[in-house]
Amino acid sequence: MNSKLNIGLFGFGTVGGGLFHVLEKGKTVDATIKKICIRNPQKERSLSPEHFTFNPDDILDDPEINLVVELIDDAEAAYAIVKKALQKGKSVVSGNKRMIAYHLDELIRLQEEHHVALLYDASACGSIPVIRNLEEYYDNDLLKSITGILNGSSNYILTRLFNDDMSYPEALKQAQDLGFAESDPTFDVDGFDAMFKLVILAMHSLGAYVHPEKVLHYGISQISVSDIRYAKEKGLKIKLIGQIIKLDKDQFTLFVLPRLVRPDEYIFNVEYEYNGVVIEGECYDKQFMFGKGAGAYPTGSAVLSDITARMHNYRYEYKKNRYFKPLEYTDDVLLEIYLRYENLVDFSLFDFENISEKYTGPSTNYVVGTIRLSQLKKIVKILPKLNVFLAFTGKLE
Ligand code: HSE
Repeated sequence: MNSKLNIGLFGFGTVGGGLFHVLEKGKTVDATIKKICIRNPQKERSLSPEHFTFNPDDILDDPEINLVVELIDDAEAAYAIVKKALQKGKSVVSGNKRMIAYHLDELIRLQEEHHVALLYDASACGSIPVIRNLEEYYDNDLLKSITGILNGSSNYILTRLFNDDMSYPEALKQAQDLGFAESDPTFDVDGFDAMFKLVILAMHSLGAYVHPEKVLHYGISQISVSDIRYAKEKGLKIKLIGQIIKLDKDQFTLFVLPRLVRPDEYIFNVEYEYNGVVIEGECYDKQFMFGKGAGAYPTGSAVLSDITARMHNYRYEYKKNRYFKPLEYTDDVLLEIYLRYENLVDFSLFDFENISEKYTGPSTNYVVGTIRLSQLKKIVKILPKLNVFLAFTGKLE
Protein backbone atom coordinates (compact mmCIF):
# COMPACT_ATOMS: atom_id res chain seq x y z
CA MET A 1 0.00 0.00 0.00
CA ASN A 2 1.32 3.45 -0.84
CA SER A 3 1.54 6.09 1.86
CA LYS A 4 1.18 9.82 1.35
CA LEU A 5 4.37 11.44 2.57
CA ASN A 6 4.46 14.62 4.60
CA ILE A 7 8.09 15.58 4.65
CA GLY A 8 10.07 17.63 7.12
CA LEU A 9 13.31 18.67 5.42
CA PHE A 10 16.52 19.53 7.26
CA GLY A 11 18.92 21.58 5.13
CA PHE A 12 18.16 23.70 2.09
CA GLY A 13 21.45 23.67 0.16
CA THR A 14 21.80 22.66 -3.48
CA VAL A 15 20.40 19.16 -3.00
CA GLY A 16 17.60 20.24 -0.65
CA GLY A 17 16.57 23.13 -2.91
CA GLY A 18 16.55 20.91 -6.00
CA LEU A 19 14.53 18.29 -4.16
CA PHE A 20 11.85 20.84 -3.19
CA HIS A 21 11.31 21.86 -6.80
CA VAL A 22 11.33 18.28 -8.12
CA LEU A 23 8.71 17.23 -5.56
CA GLU A 24 6.56 20.30 -6.30
CA LYS A 25 6.51 19.49 -9.99
CA GLY A 26 6.76 15.69 -9.85
CA LYS A 27 3.79 13.49 -10.53
CA THR A 28 5.33 10.19 -9.49
CA VAL A 29 5.69 10.81 -5.76
CA ASP A 30 2.74 11.68 -3.57
CA ALA A 31 4.81 13.81 -1.23
CA THR A 32 4.76 17.36 0.10
CA ILE A 33 7.47 19.20 1.95
CA LYS A 34 5.59 20.67 4.91
CA LYS A 35 8.45 22.42 6.69
CA ILE A 36 12.13 23.11 6.09
CA CYS A 37 14.50 23.53 9.01
CA ILE A 38 17.51 25.75 8.32
CA ARG A 39 20.30 27.08 10.50
CA ASN A 40 21.35 30.39 8.99
CA PRO A 41 18.71 33.15 9.21
CA GLN A 42 20.89 35.60 7.26
CA LYS A 43 21.05 33.59 4.06
CA GLU A 44 18.75 34.67 1.24
CA ARG A 45 16.28 31.90 0.28
CA SER A 46 14.35 31.24 -2.89
CA LEU A 47 11.10 30.48 -1.01
CA SER A 48 8.84 32.62 1.17
CA PRO A 49 9.58 32.62 4.94
CA GLU A 50 6.54 30.52 5.96
CA HIS A 51 8.25 27.43 4.49
CA PHE A 52 11.10 27.68 6.98
CA THR A 53 11.77 27.17 10.65
CA PHE A 54 14.90 27.41 12.77
CA ASN A 55 13.56 25.08 15.42
CA PRO A 56 14.06 21.33 14.68
CA ASP A 57 11.17 20.48 17.02
CA ASP A 58 8.72 22.20 14.67
CA ILE A 59 9.37 19.17 12.45
CA LEU A 60 10.17 16.49 15.02
CA ASP A 61 7.06 17.23 17.14
CA ASP A 62 4.67 17.64 14.21
CA PRO A 63 2.46 14.51 14.17
CA GLU A 64 1.50 15.11 10.52
CA ILE A 65 5.12 14.77 9.35
CA ASN A 66 5.81 11.10 8.64
CA LEU A 67 9.15 11.37 6.84
CA VAL A 68 12.23 13.36 7.79
CA VAL A 69 14.74 14.07 5.02
CA GLU A 70 18.07 15.05 6.52
CA LEU A 71 20.47 16.85 4.17
CA ILE A 72 22.80 18.77 6.45
CA ASP A 73 26.58 18.76 6.51
CA ASP A 74 27.21 18.57 10.26
CA ALA A 75 27.37 14.86 11.21
CA GLU A 76 26.79 15.37 14.94
CA ALA A 77 23.77 17.62 14.43
CA ALA A 78 22.46 15.12 11.84
CA TYR A 79 22.86 12.28 14.34
CA ALA A 80 20.80 14.14 16.97
CA ILE A 81 18.05 14.88 14.44
CA VAL A 82 17.92 11.37 12.97
CA LYS A 83 17.95 9.67 16.37
CA LYS A 84 15.14 11.85 17.69
CA ALA A 85 13.08 11.41 14.51
CA LEU A 86 13.36 7.62 14.69
CA GLN A 87 12.50 7.65 18.40
CA LYS A 88 9.41 9.70 17.61
CA GLY A 89 8.26 7.13 15.08
CA LYS A 90 9.23 9.01 11.92
CA SER A 91 11.09 7.32 9.09
CA VAL A 92 14.16 9.10 7.76
CA VAL A 93 16.05 9.54 4.51
CA SER A 94 19.63 10.70 4.94
CA GLY A 95 22.77 11.00 2.84
CA ASN A 96 25.11 11.62 5.74
CA LYS A 97 27.73 8.88 5.35
CA ARG A 98 29.85 9.99 8.30
CA MET A 99 26.91 10.00 10.69
CA ILE A 100 25.68 6.63 9.42
CA ALA A 101 29.12 4.97 9.51
CA TYR A 102 29.71 6.06 13.10
CA HIS A 103 26.28 5.11 14.42
CA LEU A 104 25.06 2.31 12.17
CA ASP A 105 24.73 -0.27 14.94
CA GLU A 106 22.55 2.00 17.02
CA LEU A 107 20.58 3.26 14.03
CA ILE A 108 19.67 -0.32 13.08
CA ARG A 109 18.51 -0.97 16.64
CA LEU A 110 16.44 2.22 16.71
CA GLN A 111 14.70 1.27 13.46
CA GLU A 112 13.70 -2.08 14.95
CA GLU A 113 12.59 -0.68 18.31
CA HIS A 114 10.43 2.06 16.84
CA HIS A 115 9.18 0.19 13.72
CA VAL A 116 10.47 2.85 11.37
CA ALA A 117 12.91 2.95 8.46
CA LEU A 118 16.11 4.81 7.73
CA LEU A 119 17.09 4.84 4.06
CA TYR A 120 20.47 6.16 2.89
CA ASP A 121 21.25 5.09 -0.64
CA ALA A 122 22.52 8.64 -1.29
CA SER A 123 25.28 8.10 1.27
CA ALA A 124 27.42 5.79 -0.88
CA CYS A 125 28.30 6.32 -4.54
CA GLY A 126 25.76 9.06 -5.27
CA SER A 127 23.46 7.93 -8.04
CA ILE A 128 24.60 4.27 -8.07
CA PRO A 129 22.02 2.17 -6.17
CA VAL A 130 24.73 0.02 -4.64
CA ILE A 131 23.30 -0.30 -1.12
CA ARG A 132 19.89 -1.47 -2.27
CA ASN A 133 21.45 -3.94 -4.70
CA LEU A 134 23.78 -5.39 -2.08
CA GLU A 135 20.90 -5.60 0.36
CA GLU A 136 18.41 -7.24 -2.00
CA TYR A 137 20.34 -9.30 -4.50
CA TYR A 138 23.69 -10.48 -3.25
CA ASP A 139 23.83 -13.45 -0.97
CA ASN A 140 26.27 -13.48 1.89
CA ASP A 141 27.76 -16.89 1.07
CA LEU A 142 28.49 -16.13 -2.56
CA LEU A 143 30.02 -12.71 -2.26
CA LYS A 144 33.82 -12.68 -2.35
CA SER A 145 34.87 -9.06 -2.57
CA ILE A 146 33.90 -5.47 -3.27
CA THR A 147 36.35 -3.13 -4.95
CA GLY A 148 35.20 0.43 -5.35
CA ILE A 149 36.11 3.90 -6.41
CA LEU A 150 33.90 5.47 -3.78
CA ASN A 151 35.03 9.08 -3.75
CA GLY A 152 34.35 11.28 -6.77
CA SER A 153 36.63 14.16 -5.77
CA SER A 154 39.80 12.13 -5.36
CA ASN A 155 39.04 10.27 -8.58
CA TYR A 156 38.55 13.60 -10.31
CA ILE A 157 41.93 14.82 -8.99
CA LEU A 158 43.75 11.61 -9.98
CA THR A 159 42.23 11.75 -13.47
CA ARG A 160 43.41 15.33 -13.90
CA LEU A 161 46.92 14.42 -12.67
CA PHE A 162 47.20 11.36 -14.91
CA ASN A 163 45.44 12.50 -18.07
CA ASP A 164 45.96 16.25 -18.12
CA ASP A 165 49.25 16.74 -16.23
CA MET A 166 47.42 19.19 -13.98
CA SER A 167 48.97 20.16 -10.66
CA TYR A 168 47.47 18.70 -7.49
CA PRO A 169 46.30 22.05 -6.01
CA GLU A 170 44.69 23.06 -9.30
CA ALA A 171 42.86 19.72 -9.64
CA LEU A 172 41.65 19.93 -6.03
CA LYS A 173 40.40 23.47 -6.61
CA GLN A 174 38.43 22.29 -9.64
CA ALA A 175 36.88 19.42 -7.67
CA GLN A 176 35.82 21.98 -5.05
CA ASP A 177 34.51 24.50 -7.60
CA LEU A 178 32.46 21.79 -9.32
CA GLY A 179 30.77 20.96 -6.01
CA PHE A 180 32.14 17.42 -5.65
CA ALA A 181 34.34 17.93 -2.60
CA GLU A 182 33.29 17.92 1.05
CA SER A 183 33.33 21.27 2.90
CA ASP A 184 36.64 20.02 4.36
CA PRO A 185 38.30 18.34 1.34
CA THR A 186 40.67 16.42 3.63
CA PHE A 187 37.75 14.04 4.03
CA ASP A 188 37.95 13.30 0.30
CA VAL A 189 41.67 13.20 -0.37
CA ASP A 190 42.70 11.41 2.84
CA GLY A 191 40.22 8.61 2.35
CA PHE A 192 37.80 9.34 5.22
CA ASP A 193 34.82 9.71 2.88
CA ALA A 194 35.56 6.45 1.04
CA MET A 195 36.08 4.73 4.41
CA PHE A 196 32.67 5.85 5.73
CA LYS A 197 31.07 4.50 2.56
CA LEU A 198 33.01 1.25 2.86
CA VAL A 199 31.75 0.74 6.43
CA ILE A 200 28.18 1.10 5.15
CA LEU A 201 28.82 -1.30 2.25
CA ALA A 202 30.29 -3.88 4.65
CA MET A 203 27.00 -3.98 6.54
CA HIS A 204 24.93 -4.45 3.39
CA SER A 205 27.30 -6.91 1.72
CA LEU A 206 28.51 -9.08 4.60
CA GLY A 207 26.23 -8.07 7.47
CA ALA A 208 29.20 -6.89 9.52
CA TYR A 209 29.64 -3.60 11.31
CA VAL A 210 33.19 -2.32 11.65
CA HIS A 211 33.57 0.93 13.56
CA PRO A 212 35.26 3.65 11.42
CA GLU A 213 38.10 3.99 13.95
CA LYS A 214 39.16 0.42 13.16
CA VAL A 215 39.40 0.83 9.38
CA LEU A 216 42.68 1.78 7.73
CA HIS A 217 42.33 4.70 5.37
CA TYR A 218 45.12 6.47 3.56
CA GLY A 219 44.55 8.80 0.63
CA ILE A 220 46.16 10.63 -2.23
CA SER A 221 47.37 13.91 -0.73
CA GLN A 222 51.03 12.79 -0.77
CA ILE A 223 51.12 11.60 -4.38
CA SER A 224 53.99 13.04 -6.43
CA VAL A 225 55.08 13.13 -10.07
CA SER A 226 57.45 10.21 -9.42
CA ASP A 227 54.52 8.04 -8.31
CA ILE A 228 52.59 8.94 -11.43
CA ARG A 229 55.68 8.23 -13.55
CA TYR A 230 56.16 4.83 -11.86
CA ALA A 231 52.55 3.85 -12.58
CA LYS A 232 52.61 5.14 -16.16
CA GLU A 233 55.87 3.34 -16.99
CA LYS A 234 54.20 0.09 -15.98
CA GLY A 235 51.00 0.87 -17.93
CA LEU A 236 49.05 1.28 -14.68
CA LYS A 237 46.94 3.99 -13.07
CA ILE A 238 46.59 4.92 -9.44
CA LYS A 239 43.05 5.06 -8.07
CA LEU A 240 41.80 5.53 -4.51
CA ILE A 241 40.06 2.27 -3.74
CA GLY A 242 37.95 0.88 -0.93
CA GLN A 243 38.14 -2.90 -0.66
CA ILE A 244 36.15 -5.48 1.24
CA ILE A 245 37.68 -8.94 0.90
CA LYS A 246 36.24 -12.15 2.27
CA LEU A 247 39.19 -14.29 3.42
CA ASP A 248 37.37 -17.50 4.36
CA LYS A 249 33.95 -18.46 5.67
CA ASP A 250 34.52 -16.66 8.97
CA GLN A 251 36.70 -13.65 8.28
CA PHE A 252 37.03 -10.62 6.05
CA THR A 253 39.19 -7.54 5.84
CA LEU A 254 38.61 -4.01 4.56
CA PHE A 255 40.66 -0.89 3.95
CA VAL A 256 40.94 2.28 1.83
CA LEU A 257 44.23 2.75 0.01
CA PRO A 258 45.49 4.18 -3.28
CA ARG A 259 45.89 1.20 -5.59
CA LEU A 260 47.81 0.45 -8.74
CA VAL A 261 45.18 -0.56 -11.28
CA ARG A 262 45.75 -2.65 -14.41
CA PRO A 263 44.12 -1.78 -17.76
CA ASP A 264 42.14 -5.04 -17.74
CA GLU A 265 40.29 -4.05 -14.56
CA TYR A 266 36.83 -2.45 -14.88
CA ILE A 267 37.81 0.42 -12.60
CA PHE A 268 40.74 1.42 -14.84
CA ASN A 269 38.44 3.49 -17.02
CA VAL A 270 36.40 5.05 -14.24
CA GLU A 271 37.47 8.67 -14.52
CA TYR A 272 36.67 12.15 -13.18
CA GLU A 273 33.88 12.27 -10.58
CA TYR A 274 32.48 8.90 -11.59
CA ASN A 275 32.40 6.03 -9.13
CA GLY A 276 32.65 2.33 -9.95
CA VAL A 277 32.02 -0.73 -7.83
CA VAL A 278 33.09 -4.26 -8.76
CA ILE A 279 31.22 -6.99 -6.91
CA GLU A 280 32.86 -10.38 -7.10
CA GLY A 281 31.09 -13.64 -6.27
CA GLU A 282 31.58 -17.40 -6.38
CA CYS A 283 29.16 -18.07 -9.21
CA TYR A 284 28.98 -14.88 -11.23
CA ASP A 285 32.67 -13.90 -11.22
CA LYS A 286 32.50 -10.10 -11.46
CA GLN A 287 29.73 -7.54 -11.85
CA PHE A 288 30.31 -3.85 -12.28
CA MET A 289 28.23 -0.81 -11.30
CA PHE A 290 29.22 2.56 -12.68
CA GLY A 291 27.83 6.07 -12.33
CA LYS A 292 28.19 9.58 -11.01
CA GLY A 293 29.18 9.51 -7.38
CA ALA A 294 29.30 13.20 -6.53
CA GLY A 295 27.47 16.41 -7.36
CA ALA A 296 24.06 17.86 -6.56
CA TYR A 297 21.96 16.10 -9.22
CA PRO A 298 23.32 12.54 -8.80
CA THR A 299 22.97 12.85 -5.01
CA GLY A 300 19.53 14.43 -5.38
CA SER A 301 18.39 11.58 -7.60
CA ALA A 302 19.41 9.04 -4.94
CA VAL A 303 17.55 11.00 -2.24
CA LEU A 304 14.46 11.13 -4.44
CA SER A 305 14.70 7.42 -5.06
CA ASP A 306 14.78 6.78 -1.30
CA ILE A 307 11.74 9.02 -0.83
CA THR A 308 9.88 7.09 -3.53
CA ALA A 309 10.94 3.84 -1.90
CA ARG A 310 9.43 5.04 1.39
CA MET A 311 6.18 5.76 -0.42
CA HIS A 312 6.08 2.03 -1.07
CA ASN A 313 7.09 1.30 2.52
CA TYR A 314 10.49 -0.06 1.52
CA ARG A 315 13.02 -0.60 4.28
CA TYR A 316 16.42 -2.23 4.57
CA GLU A 317 16.05 -5.56 6.30
CA TYR A 318 19.73 -6.03 7.16
CA LYS A 319 19.22 -9.65 6.15
CA LYS A 320 22.87 -10.63 6.27
CA ASN A 321 23.29 -9.19 9.72
CA ARG A 322 20.12 -10.78 11.04
CA TYR A 323 19.91 -14.16 9.37
CA PHE A 324 23.58 -15.09 8.94
CA LYS A 325 26.39 -15.16 11.45
CA PRO A 326 28.26 -11.96 10.54
CA LEU A 327 31.82 -12.47 9.41
CA GLU A 328 34.58 -11.27 11.69
CA TYR A 329 36.83 -8.41 10.64
CA THR A 330 40.58 -9.04 10.76
CA ASP A 331 43.61 -6.88 9.96
CA ASP A 332 45.96 -9.86 10.13
CA VAL A 333 46.61 -9.96 6.37
CA LEU A 334 49.67 -9.26 4.27
CA LEU A 335 49.34 -6.53 1.66
CA GLU A 336 51.81 -5.97 -1.13
CA ILE A 337 52.52 -2.25 -1.36
CA TYR A 338 54.53 0.18 -3.43
CA LEU A 339 56.30 2.65 -1.12
CA ARG A 340 58.03 5.77 -2.40
CA TYR A 341 60.29 7.38 0.16
CA GLU A 342 62.99 10.03 0.23
CA ASN A 343 65.04 9.08 3.27
CA LEU A 344 65.96 5.93 5.18
CA VAL A 345 64.56 7.14 8.49
CA ASP A 346 61.06 7.24 6.97
CA PHE A 347 61.62 3.87 5.27
CA SER A 348 62.70 2.25 8.56
CA LEU A 349 59.23 2.87 10.03
CA PHE A 350 57.75 0.31 7.63
CA ASP A 351 57.97 -3.23 8.90
CA PHE A 352 58.20 -5.07 5.55
CA GLU A 353 58.06 -8.86 5.75
CA ASN A 354 59.42 -9.30 2.26
CA ILE A 355 60.76 -6.99 -0.47
CA SER A 356 60.49 -7.99 -4.11
CA GLU A 357 61.55 -4.80 -5.92
CA LYS A 358 63.84 -1.99 -4.88
CA TYR A 359 65.01 1.19 -6.61
CA THR A 360 67.38 3.80 -5.23
CA GLY A 361 67.84 6.97 -7.28
CA PRO A 362 69.38 10.41 -6.88
CA SER A 363 66.12 12.10 -5.88
CA THR A 364 63.70 9.33 -5.00
CA ASN A 365 63.55 5.71 -3.93
CA TYR A 366 60.89 3.04 -3.89
CA VAL A 367 60.32 -0.53 -2.81
CA VAL A 368 57.59 -3.05 -3.51
CA GLY A 369 57.07 -5.47 -0.65
CA THR A 370 54.63 -7.06 1.74
CA ILE A 371 53.53 -5.55 5.02
CA ARG A 372 50.88 -6.60 7.53
CA LEU A 373 47.72 -4.46 7.56
CA SER A 374 47.89 -4.35 11.37
CA GLN A 375 51.43 -2.88 11.08
CA LEU A 376 50.33 -0.27 8.57
CA LYS A 377 47.49 0.75 10.88
CA LYS A 378 50.02 1.50 13.63
CA ILE A 379 51.89 4.07 11.53
CA VAL A 380 49.18 5.42 9.21
CA LYS A 381 48.49 8.53 11.32
CA ILE A 382 52.11 9.72 11.07
CA LEU A 383 52.43 9.15 7.31
CA PRO A 384 51.22 12.68 6.39
CA LYS A 385 54.23 14.05 8.31
CA LEU A 386 56.68 11.98 6.24
CA ASN A 387 57.84 12.39 2.68
CA VAL A 388 56.36 9.12 1.42
CA PHE A 389 53.52 7.78 -0.69
CA LEU A 390 52.19 4.27 -0.71
CA ALA A 391 49.83 2.31 -2.89
CA PHE A 392 48.44 -1.23 -2.66
CA THR A 393 49.45 -3.35 -5.65
CA GLY A 394 46.30 -5.48 -5.39
CA LYS A 395 48.10 -8.60 -4.07
CA LEU A 396 46.95 -9.87 -0.71
CA GLU A 397 48.07 -12.96 1.24
N1 HSE B 1 32.70 14.44 -1.57
C1 HSE B 1 32.04 13.26 -2.02
C2 HSE B 1 32.79 12.72 -3.22
C3 HSE B 1 30.63 13.57 -2.39
O1 HSE B 1 33.66 13.42 -3.76
O2 HSE B 1 32.56 11.57 -3.61
C4 HSE B 1 29.77 12.37 -2.62
O3 HSE B 1 29.68 11.56 -1.50
